[in-house]
Amino acid sequence: MLTSWFSRTKKPMIQLYTDVHSHLLPGIDDGVKTMEESIEVIKYLSGLGFKKLITTPHIMSDYYKNTPEIIRGKLNEVKEAISAENIPVEIEAAAEYYLDEYFYKLICDGKELLTFGDNYVLFETSFTVEPVILKEVIFRLNSAGYNPVYAHPERYIYLQENKDLLNELIDQGLLFQLNALSTIGYYSKGVKKMAETMIERNAISFIGSDTHNMQQASFLHEAYSSKLAHKLDVSSLLNHTL
Ligand SMILES: [Fe+2]
Repeated sequence: MLTSWFSRTKKPMIQLYTDVHSHLLPGIDDGVKTMEESIEVIKYLSGLGFKKLITTPHIMSDYYKNTPEIIRGKLNEVKEAISAENIPVEIEAAAEYYLDEYFYKLICDGKELLTFGDNYVLFETSFTVEPVILKEVIFRLNSAGYNPVYAHPERYIYLQENKDLLNELIDQGLLFQLNALSTIGYYSKGVKKMAETMIERNAISFIGSDTHNMQQASFLHEAYSSKLAHKLDVSSLLNHTL
């Protein structure tokens, strides 16, 4: 009897082996600060069942002037630490590009962008104001052979308030990455509501942890077991292709 009560009330985590969004390279953005913290979070994620972590340091011209060289250098240090600790997890690095003039110039100048999987480029924007170059950046990324991935769309106020823009982006086939913590209202009620809308429209292609530290990681079990996460069509998520 206890078993059936347990299974009715406590859902298991949705099964994911690959995470596509995190800040686990120490000291180069607002994510983990030290190698010890990095390893602590990576062990925790491995314990949740992740086999592959695609970590995505911020690249933002005003605050985080990361380059492919800086990111690869830190990645190698973290890989060594993972292997020294025998953690059964693979780690790769791409980036989370902030949509600013610097990113626009990288695209226009044909500079190397850090990608994952099928030439996916993860980008984020201002939380409040729609960037005037949003559609042009998406167009240019597509034209250059990249597949842009819009990070945590549920968190942008301008998108919550502009259903026409949301519809247009969905209709043009843009790939959207949902943050797991949005499903439990970690950021706000409005963000959770937007997450629900996007899940119900089957508009989500990736789910990511966006883990910056242990405090956020500690909510992931709850997030991946949440009612809302269970509404996702997990089989259609592209996490499984990576
Ligand atoms: Fe992020």
